[in-house]
Amino acid sequence: MEVIRLPSKMQSWALDQRAHGFTLAVVPTMGYLHEGHRSLMRIARRRAGRVIVTIFVNPTQFGPNEDFERYPRDWERDRAICEAEGVDVVFAPDVGDMYAPDHSVWVEETRLSRGLCGAYRPGHFRGVATVVLKLFHLTQPHVAVFGEKDAQQLRIIRRMVRDLNLPIEIVPGPTVREPDGLAMSSRNAYLSPDERRQAAGLWKALQAVQARFAQGERRAAALIETVRMELARTAPSAVPQYIELVDDETLEPIEQIRDRPALLALAVFLGTTRLIDHIVLSP
Ligand code: PAF
Repeated sequence: MEVIRLPSKMQSWALDQRAHGFTLAVVPTMGYLHEGHRSLMRIARRRAGRVIVTIFVNPTQFGPNEDFERYPRDWERDRAICEAEGVDVVFAPDVGDMYAPDHSVWVEETRLSRGLCGAYRPGHFRGVATVVLKLFHLTQPHVAVFGEKDAQQLRIIRRMVRDLNLPIEIVPGPTVREPDGLAMSSRNAYLSPDERRQAAGLWKALQAVQARFAQGERRAAALIETVRMELARTAPSAVPQYIELVDDETLEPIEQIRDRPALLALAVFLGTTRLIDHIVLSP
């Protein structure tokens, strides 16, 4: 496995592999890899002759009061995981090589990024879209694999690929959960033992919604109230930032599920840790 630090070297490696007829898949990450990332790497492996994992904690997607500085990092462990998964190249650039001091061009998605996390993290999806487009240019993939856990991010990246005519197939990877249902996330490392125990409540709340939906409930207010009540019961310290029911495609809020799939998405704080999760409800 090769480790590449310089963007120019990454791009020439990728172009060379393409010239030799290889199909390339990329798994963009911010490192501190877990089983969820491993499953994305395995999907990439099945889809391409060459697999690239990018590890870059991207400063432009963090707000001024967010956790960029303390975001967990473990280079040696990440490297070993990539090696064990048979990754061909890990691209791990320095911030200074990714962004010129006078960097001034951004990619901005203007519809799907307005609500949900976008409403509470101004500039976040602009940072994500910009870095993902840069990573696409540097790694030249035919296929890019993203976790379904970041539901809004996945939809925004798909929209960027569509609207900017990028010749890249976006492949979603299912959310991987801990045995108690907590969606795997690098940020779970921040949780205290008590917060970690309560964090399983997010999935319990979403399952309760699934059950009410299966019984025929279609009203947003009732489904959202189910989440609130279940969270209050199973994760009493959780402070919801939002719990919303939106159209799965447009991400616009809806009052009732009719004939199109809906996304019930939530973000909650447990202490200072912000966790997100969601469920798709398909009529
Ligand atoms: O999902 C992530 O880890 C990041 O948002 C991504 C896509 C790697 C961009 O920095």
